[in-house]
Amino acid sequence: MKTSPDDAVVNPSADHVVVLDTTLRDGEQSPGIALSVNEKVEIAEQLARLGVDVIEAGFPAASQGDFDGVEAIAGTVHGSVVAALCRTKPADVERAWDAIKHADHPRLHTFISTSPIHREKKLRMTADQVLAETVRAVAQAKTYCGDVEFSAEDATRTELDFLVDVFAAAVENGATTINVPDTVGFAMPQEYVAILDAVRARVPRAEEVVWSVHCHNDLGLATANSLAALRAGARQVEVCVNGIGERAGNTALEEIVMALRTHHPTLGLTTQVDTREIARTSRLVSMLSGYAVQPNKAVIGANAFSHESGIHQHGVLMERTTYEIMNPEDIGLTGGSTIVLGKHSGRHAFVDALAQLGFVLPAESLDRAFAHFKEMADRKITLTDSDLVALATEEDTSGAVGGVWSFNSIAVSGGTDTAPQASVRISRDGETAEADASGDGMIDAACNAVAKATGVDAVLVAFQVAAVTPGSDAVGDVSVQVEVAGQTVSARGVSTDVVEASARAFLHAVNKVVSGTALPRRTDKP
Ligand code: KIV
Ligand code: ZN
Repeated sequence: MKTSPDDAVVNPSADHVVVLDTTLRDGEQSPGIALSVNEKVEIAEQLARLGVDVIEAGFPAASQGDFDGVEAIAGTVHGSVVAALCRTKPADVERAWDAIKHADHPRLHTFISTSPIHREKKLRMTADQVLAETVRAVAQAKTYCGDVEFSAEDATRTELDFLVDVFAAAVENGATTINVPDTVGFAMPQEYVAILDAVRARVPRAEEVVWSVHCHNDLGLATANSLAALRAGARQVEVCVNGIGERAGNTALEEIVMALRTHHPTLGLTTQVDTREIARTSRLVSMLSGYAVQPNKAVIGANAFSHESGIHQHGVLMERTTYEIMNPEDIGLTGGSTIVLGKHSGRHAFVDALAQLGFVLPAESLDRAFAHFKEMADRKITLTDSDLVALATEEDTSGAVGGVWSFNSIAVSGGTDTAPQASVRISRDGETAEADASGDGMIDAACNAVAKATGVDAVLVAFQVAAVTPGSDAVGDVSVQVEVAGQTVSARGVSTDVVEASARAFLHAVNKVVSGTALPRRTDKP
């Protein structure tokens, strides 16, 4: 699905569902996520490869960093519509347009809250003022761009008559997609469908626009609500990879796409998503956002295709479909390790293996990644494709541009009766720094030592560790969120030793701040 400024209406065919991915906008509003411009472009490029119709790239009026991210995506990504979100304020709409005007297929997405509680307590506006804002913003957006989406924030808690009036005004003034957000994840599937049915029946020329659904997961109903609305006639669904997003998150892209695919015989709805890119996209978003995927997460959790009980294992061995309703290969899981490297593997084999896994690292990063690989291979006999992905992604997401610290070594000591101590050595531009520190545990001591060696006042605020592969020699993949001068930055580190992985992750987070690749968090997002 493509639009251009001249396309008046994005008009999917009867069975095509437009997938609008808002990982980089609503998803990035999750606490602690702050992606750099490069990371945003990397995710957007992967989303285009995945085949989403629309990439909601950000909210340009929120900050210069957001503007830069959206503008960079608009200039780089081809094949998908690039959307920018804006409030109804004239300056917001103009700023959003400035950021996307060079996209192949730009979309302006303007929104205002419509529910009584939001009108009275948040906006301090009357219903008439909200209506007037809608008219003005949609009309302004339309002077810039043919493809205009309008959202009534908190639509599901809005008086139906007023919702109809607002949507009618948006359609009248040229909106081509009308979005009905369940902003606070309040609706039940039958209520959501009833609202959609009512507005589609009562808004004049409703059949000329695309009706869109945007659900939050506060009651765990985001996917169910979105699917119910698609069954009822909505033809755009707004989603985030791994279901990240405000509070309990947004509808998960992978759940909607695979539900539509699995139930195609009865629903008859299709997307243009290349499902084999789902696993890779999920991994990238998880790595860059620092949000690990829970093991039992539908479709892309580590356990989604593993069978523990003997009866299940027996069934799957006899016939996979006894316990699997999807084929793991359809979401891009190869079903086991295809690449195995060890300490005798050379640089060429390493580069080759990374390329097969979709990583092409620049020379400087490759040198560091290869050195890290050799260290890990010395400690662990073989490294599988999952280990290599973790290692390459750590390098890819380390913010390691010139002038940042490299990790050299760590030594830790301590036990039940002795205070944990850590000594680290790091280097930058040929200069080495060493520091010792104690802490509440080995990991705390290691992070304190890194902070001391860099001279940056950084504090660990969140920590998660996952094993990349099974077994006691598994590579540990640590995600951290680190606070530096009021800014929260996420990063990852991998090693066969979790204390070292933690120190590496902590150092990468500090590097992001030192190099200025981390964006400051804002508080004024929708
Ligand atoms: O949840 C919501 O209402 C939103 C809108 C801005 C679309 O994210
Ligand atoms: Zn939202």
